[in-house]
Amino acid sequence: MNRLILNADIKRGKIDKNIYGHFSEHLGRCIYEGYWVGEDSPIPNTRGIRNDVVEALRKIRIPVLRWPGGCFADEYHWKDGVGPREKRVRMINTHWGGVVENNHFGTHEFFDLCEQLGAEPYICGNVGSGTVHEMQQWVEYMTFDGESPMTTWRKENGREEPWKLKYFGVGNENWGCGGRMRPEYYADLYRRYQTYVRDYSRNRIYKIACGPSVDDYNWTDVLMKRAGEYMDGLSLHYYVFPGGRANKGSALDFTSEEWFVTLKKALYMEELIRKHSTIMDKYDPEKRVALIVDEWGAWHDVELGTNPGFLYQQNSLRDALIAGVTLNIFNNHCDRVRMANIAQTINVLQAVILTREEEMLLTPTYHVFEMYKVHQDAQLLDFNLVSEDYEVENDSIPAVTASASMTDEGEVNVSLCNLRHDKNVKLRCVFNSIKSNISNVTGRILTSDALNAHNTFEEKNRVRPKEFGNIELLNDGFEICLPHSSVVLLTIDVRDKQ
Ligand code: AHR
Repeated sequence: MNRLILNADIKRGKIDKNIYGHFSEHLGRCIYEGYWVGEDSPIPNTRGIRNDVVEALRKIRIPVLRWPGGCFADEYHWKDGVGPREKRVRMINTHWGGVVENNHFGTHEFFDLCEQLGAEPYICGNVGSGTVHEMQQWVEYMTFDGESPMTTWRKENGREEPWKLKYFGVGNENWGCGGRMRPEYYADLYRRYQTYVRDYSRNRIYKIACGPSVDDYNWTDVLMKRAGEYMDGLSLHYYVFPGGRANKGSALDFTSEEWFVTLKKALYMEELIRKHSTIMDKYDPEKRVALIVDEWGAWHDVELGTNPGFLYQQNSLRDALIAGVTLNIFNNHCDRVRMANIAQTINVLQAVILTREEEMLLTPTYHVFEMYKVHQDAQLLDFNLVSEDYEVENDSIPAVTASASMTDEGEVNVSLCNLRHDKNVKLRCVFNSIKSNISNVTGRILTSDALNAHNTFEEKNRVRPKEFGNIELLNDGFEICLPHSSVVLLTIDVRDKQ
């Protein structure tokens, strides 16, 4: 029997809302068309930024946004992106499709976007091809409120007050597109660059070092040993490539075996976090330095007929399960994982929004973020889950994953994923709390009639959350039947015992 024992009196720490963060790069149609349409566009916008997209992202309470890359960040020279737009440098986006980047979306536009979204900005600086001086001046431009050449320039460009900037990344993937460095070399560079990422005025910067790719545990060890004391966060990048890096596989045309393999790969995030965190514990037992998973998500083949450098892919129920499983893992490791950024918000990789000119649709992944937003800044609850195995071709993974939290108001939310493609799963939930009784349980479910179900511009609501009934209240908890291939959110009303 599958069983979830929820210890509602044992809190395991706060689930940082930034775990529900996003990543948006100058890549394909993420920034341009996705957010930025320009002030003269017939698409309704506020100072050039699409209103429909902002409204949709506000609904999922996007807490933090990482920009401008990605690989783009280590080729980005911020001065190209400020000042009158018509005078901004037109450059080649060498990484992504070789298209012209007109720099119309730059620092000012990014902060405006974050203000419209109500999200914290997270800027990634250029270590790969940029200078220390350039990085130092960017921070000065954004955050200094005294008299200086950069402050004067910012004011000339229309911004009187400095912005508040907390999160700053010192390079991106410097083991790869960000300079192909060895960890020893990057650790030294990190120490040098971060010295000039200064706290001006009342601004306090939270510095994030480039961390490992997937299972490069040596990178984590070297970075923590040589530079750990100078960082607040260390990043981790992990993508799910269903068919492997070379032949990733179709976003929509896949078998049930491929469904299984994909979810097994999503579950691998747990092992990565555990192992990297154990190495970090060696140098930082207090867990002062956070693990920041600032790129994660599913990476499929690009949609046929689209620019291969634009990484545009559809998003199906399978992607929703990847999101549900991964966010459960992050919640459950909130002692070390204090930010994560799905790649990427709009029109690129595991997007939450797809756009086509003036149209916009919400993907199944969007709906998972919407359902799970109740976990943001809530207290993680202790639980024990016994799940049956989901077996395919002599391999097995757990059929069910979960996480649970309690809001400040005392509402308990449990997110559950049934990974099985073929079988509903009965789950008995036992509520262990000395102080409370369950008075009511409500639920929402995201599932569909096909494993590859997805939303299109012709049918925008094929996959969307519905009410979840069939909850049988028992003396010490409740019993439910989790439909196969589903993500479920249960909200439990608890009342104090008399
Ligand atoms: O998200 C796409 C790319 O994947 C990013 O630019 C890079 O950091 C990673 O390799």
